[in-house]
Amino acid sequence: MHHYTELGLCNTREMFKKAMAGQYAIPAYNFNNMEQLQAIMTACIETKSPVILQVSSGARKYANQTLLRFMAMGAMELVRESGSNIPVALHLDHGDTFELCVSCIESGFSSVMIDGSGHSYEDNIALTKKVVEFAHKHDVTVEGELGVLAGIEDDVSHEVSHYTKPEEVEDFLARTGVDSLAISIGTSHGAFKFKLQPGESVPPLRFDILEAIEKLTPGFPIVLHGASSVMMEYVDMINQYGGKMENTAGIPEEQLRRAAASAVCKINIDSDGRLAMTAKIREVLATKPGEFDPRKYLGPAREELVKMYKHKNQHVLGSAGKA
Ligand code: G3H
Ligand code: 13P
Ligand code: ZN
Repeated sequence: MHHYTELGLCNTREMFKKAMAGQYAIPAYNFNNMEQLQAIMTACIETKSPVILQVSSGARKYANQTLLRFMAMGAMELVRESGSNIPVALHLDHGDTFELCVSCIESGFSSVMIDGSGHSYEDNIALTKKVVEFAHKHDVTVEGELGVLAGIEDDVSHEVSHYTKPEEVEDFLARTGVDSLAISIGTSHGAFKFKLQPGESVPPLRFDILEAIEKLTPGFPIVLHGASSVMMEYVDMINQYGGKMENTAGIPEEQLRRAAASAVCKINIDSDGRLAMTAKIREVLATKPGEFDPRKYLGPAREELVKMYKHKNQHVLGSAGKA
């Protein structure tokens, strides 16, 4: 058993309390490799932002769970060396079984998500409660999910979303004991969230549902998944340099800012990082066809990621300067 405190990590309890009071959201950025992790840490150290490092089960398979734990330890070393003291949580994104959550907790994660949203309401409660009981023994915080987001996450794909029913939330929280809750109010996973016809704009998030939930459970931390904006500058760059991403749009930044100022305390962003990285790599390879040293395209991609994460912390989530 490696407890997260040995790694210098913290759980999300205090982070969310401060985010709720300060009307901002903690960034939850996914990583699968060294360059992504370096970029997240550099951006968050330089903007003095707390951060949640997210690992999906796909990331664990891709990068190896042991290596990821050591990478997180390395990230904490970077924080110490920088002389800053930003709070960092290591979080399992979309855990789908009790066993996976246990394995992550035992390997040093400070927070886990148990995503029971694909199950019936009662089965979701039973699974989530079981994870909470184990996690809380180790002071690890747990995120649950109620409602279904459209999109693809690992092996689970949902074609349509089902908004969270506010009337179920209180009961779910009381019976599971979760520390935060992911809800469905119109966001979706991936880089293809909306296909717009000419003249159409992205439909607004269902702030009425969020407000109803806030009223019923004041002060309880809410999580927004699927919150990439699908930044057009990167989609355009990808298309300019040989890629093909047609007609797509994400969640507009002003809607995320509004959410961050509410009970939404954690905002999940993965796809925008994938787009930024791919766009820059494509640009380098297209403009410098003789280049074959990976550092020469991964380095600029990492710099682009730093720029993008800083922008999110400073201008979207409001987490900059809050560490
Ligand atoms: O919500 C899903 C995240 O973007 C992680 O994606 O499961 O492909 O690693 P992944
Ligand atoms: P995006 O695909 O919108 O980046 O969402 C990521 C996410 O929700 C990770 O859990
Ligand atoms: Zn998600």
